[in-house]
This record gives sequence, structure tokens and C-alpha cells, in this order.
Amino acid sequence: MTNLVRWSTVWLVLLVVVAIAAGPVPLQSPDNAHTLSETEVRQSLATIEQRYQQAKALQTLAAWEYGSNLTQINLVKKTKAAAEFAEVAKTIAEELRQLPTAQLTDDDLKRRIQKLSKLKYAVLPADQFKELLGAIANMESNYAKAKFCAFGDSAKCDLSLDPELTEIFANHRDAEELKYYWVQWYNATGAPVRESFQKYVELNRQAALRNSK
Ligand SMILES: *[C@@H]1O[C@H](CO)[C@@H](O)[C@H](O)[C@H]1NC(C)=O
Ligand SMILES: *[C@@H]1O[C@H](CO)[C@@H](O)[C@H](O)[C@H]1NC(C)=O
Repeated sequence: MTNLVRWSTVWLVLLVVVAIAAGPVPLQSPDNAHTLSETEVRQSLATIEQRYQQAKALQTLAAWEYGSNLTQINLVKKTKAAAEFAEVAKTIAEELRQLPTAQLTDDDLKRRIQKLSKLKYAVLPADQFKELLGAIANMESNYAKAKFCAFGDSAKCDLSLDPELTEIFANHRDAEELKYYWVQWYNATGAPVRESFQKYVELNRQAALRNSK
């Protein structure tokens, strides 16, 4: 009886050790006996790419909706979609690490796996990622919403970069007028986002450091 108990304990321990050693095995074959063939890797990758593209499409759509209609609600939606996409990208990169890529011979397959393994901004921890999105959104919205007063008419202050200033820079030739608008534009779009830009640069640096590891 004691013997029986001892042996079952040994088997249990062995089983646990094997399970731990195998790690998360979503992409290994069920019998665990052989690693995936190239064909199986290709099939797994096709499914993974589909998930990636779906999440990416949602993020792109939300970014477009905000870009063409700069409301607070759309900004919240865009930030949420970007955070969700980052989660999907991280999960996928983790899954790809489990694939037996070293033994692959198909260059196209290797290239696709490598491309999806790159995390870019999503490599940042969630709070920094959010901070980066905030800095980008702040720059975008300031750039798009900036208003300017007309040259020689300080009462008319509803000019935008697009279309008024763009048209002026393209077609007007009065040096004084152009200089005035350039200074206005620089002052209205550059100065207020200096802090956001510094944050943007710093967080990009952090992301690059993490991506190079
Ligand atoms: C802009 O977005 C808001 C939601 O924040 C929506 O109610 C409104 O209809 C949108 N406007 C246009 C022109 O799409
Ligand atoms: C620059 O912008 C600030 C406010 O944003 C304003 O007070 C200042 O007069 C502007 N300077 C010029 C040269 O337009």
C-alpha cells in the first residue's frame, strides 16, 4: 500500500515536471511527440495573421474616425482600439516564439513570422503605451485645430492650416505676409506641443531599447 502511494507520487511529480518543461503548448501537436512540420506552421501562421489583421483593421478604423472628426468620444475609442490591438500583438508575438522557426526552410514563411514578431510601440508597458498615445493624440489634435488671424486683420481669426494657410503658402508671393503666417503657424502648432513631443521622443526611445533586446 505504502509502495503504491509512493509510486503514484513519483508519477505525479514526473508528470508535473514534464508539463512545466513543455511550457505553454498551443502550437505543438497534441501528442507532443513531434514538433510542427512546415505545413503545420504555415497553417498556424495563416490563422494568426487573420487575428492580427482583424485587430489592426479595428484600430485603423478608429484612428481614421478620430483623424477625420476630432471629438473626445472618438479619441477615447481610438485609444481603446489601440490598446486592444497592442494586447493582440503581444499575445501573437508570444505565440510565435513557440513556433519551431529555426528549422524552417521557406524564406517567405520566416519573413512573415519575423514581421509579426516585431512589437513596435506595443512593446511598452501598458501605462507608457497609453502615455505615448496621449502625446500623439495631443499633437494631432493641436495641429488640426490650430486657428490663425488673417494678415493685417486681427479681427478675422478663424483661419485653419487646411485649407486657408495651405492655399496662401501655395499661391501668395508677398514676403511679409508669408513670414507673418509662417511665424503664426510655427507658434500655434509647435510651441504648445513641445512637452508632448519630448514625451513622444523619450517613449519612442524606450520602445526602441525594448525592441532591440
Ligand atoms: C463626430 O463624432 C461624434 C461622436 O463623437 C458623432 O456624434 C458625430 O456624428 C460625428 N460627426 C461626423 C460629421 O461624423
Ligand atoms: C504665440 O502664441 C502665444 C499664445 O499661444 C501668443 O500669446 C503670442 O503672442 C504668439 N506670438 C506670436 C509671435 O504670434
